[in-house]
Amino acid sequence: MGKLTVETTNHRYDVLIGPTTYALFSTVYKDLLTSADRIAIIADEKVAAIHLPLLEESLAIVKDKLVVKTIPAGEACKSIATYADCQSFLLQQGFTRQSLIIAYGGGACGDLAGYVAATFMRGIRYIHCPTTILAHDSAVGGKTAINMPEGKNMVGAFHQPSAVLFQTGLFSSLPSQEVRSGLAELLKHAFISNEEWTMQLLANKSFTNPSEKWLTEELLKGIQVKAKIVAEDEFEQSTRKFLNFGHTFGHAVEAACGFGKLSHGESVMIGMIYSLQLSEMMGLTAKTLTEQLIQFANEHEYPLHSIHDFSFDEFMNYMQKDKKMSHGKLNFVLLKGIGQPFVTEVTREQCLRAFQELTTRTEGMS
Ligand SMILES: NC(=O)c1ccc[n+]([C@@H]2O[C@H](COP(=O)([O-])OP(=O)(O)OC[C@H]3O[C@@H](n4cnc5c(N)ncnc54)[C@H](O)[C@@H]3O)[C@@H](O)[C@H]2O)c1
Ligand SMILES: [Zn+2]
Repeated sequence: MGKLTVETTNHRYDVLIGPTTYALFSTVYKDLLTSADRIAIIADEKVAAIHLPLLEESLAIVKDKLVVKTIPAGEACKSIATYADCQSFLLQQGFTRQSLIIAYGGGACGDLAGYVAATFMRGIRYIHCPTTILAHDSAVGGKTAINMPEGKNMVGAFHQPSAVLFQTGLFSSLPSQEVRSGLAELLKHAFISNEEWTMQLLANKSFTNPSEKWLTEELLKGIQVKAKIVAEDEFEQSTRKFLNFGHTFGHAVEAACGFGKLSHGESVMIGMIYSLQLSEMMGLTAKTLTEQLIQFANEHEYPLHSIHDFSFDEFMNYMQKDKKMSHGKLNFVLLKGIGQPFVTEVTREQCLRAFQELTTRTEGMS
């Protein structure tokens, strides 16, 4: 089992990852559970349909105070309606400031349940039991949010969990699109931190067909990168922005294609290629590196064709709406080299040139 401690100014909690982490509910986390007057599992409905018995059995010691609230699967749960529904549910069930929430699902469920916990009676404790690979990114760091009709993650709060428990066997039911999604974020953590690790990942032929053991080791490395950054910059004033590598263009791709058509990480993979293209054009990274990532993404069936489905202006419109835009210029995380991210302003002309170059380079790809 892998373990890592996340430390922020006022909080300290463990992230555990392995095949039997839920066994810790009746040992290490017994006090936390028994100190709560009520406990709600807020579960993604798809996850609940497959895996709820496993979690309920692991929580047998607090069976009498446990209730389950299922929410729409995936991104659809990050709505005001589901948020309000959960708050009403907790109130009707007699939850208090001494109650506890357990989020059971991917990043979307974690964001929603985390925001419910952050705001219910001005904040109660929550444990995150993430069920996707991508959640190695989202479950660490305490960012919680819901979407508004005007944009993604527009309403939210920083609220750190009390613990994060990954039970790796749950990944086996993930659709391949979601496996690709989570692994793209893993590659992002490598790109912004470590050249040797990045090269290892890019050379891995079974990248999108990982074993549980490999995932345990690699996700721990990814979580380490995230945890270090969060410890340095909990409220995104400086280095935490590096975690947005691949996200400015990635979010535009995700939005243009329609949320849910492409998984988040698939879009981020395309966004990382775009950022490397910009870095290359600024003379910072080698042409061969951009080439290598394009080939890698193509081999592992990331949907590169998506950039051909929309015009530059369509993507640009979405990028301009992105909250990373400041004073009319676009902010991008680029690389001076692998492991050397930095934030810089990029003009519309540079964005256009990168787009044109990339569409040429990815002609006819997956
Ligand atoms: N808070 C943060 O710091 C942060 C960071 C990155 C991403 N996010 C957020 O995370 C969300 C994306 O998270 P995600 O990629 O985990 O997606 P997700 O939570 O939307 O889940 C993706 C799909 O997989 C299904 N699923 C989840 N676990 C499963 C399992 N074990 N077996 C079968 N199906 C399963 C879900 O029902 C859903 O359909 C986005 O909303 C994004 O904004 C937040
Ligand atoms: Zn992301």
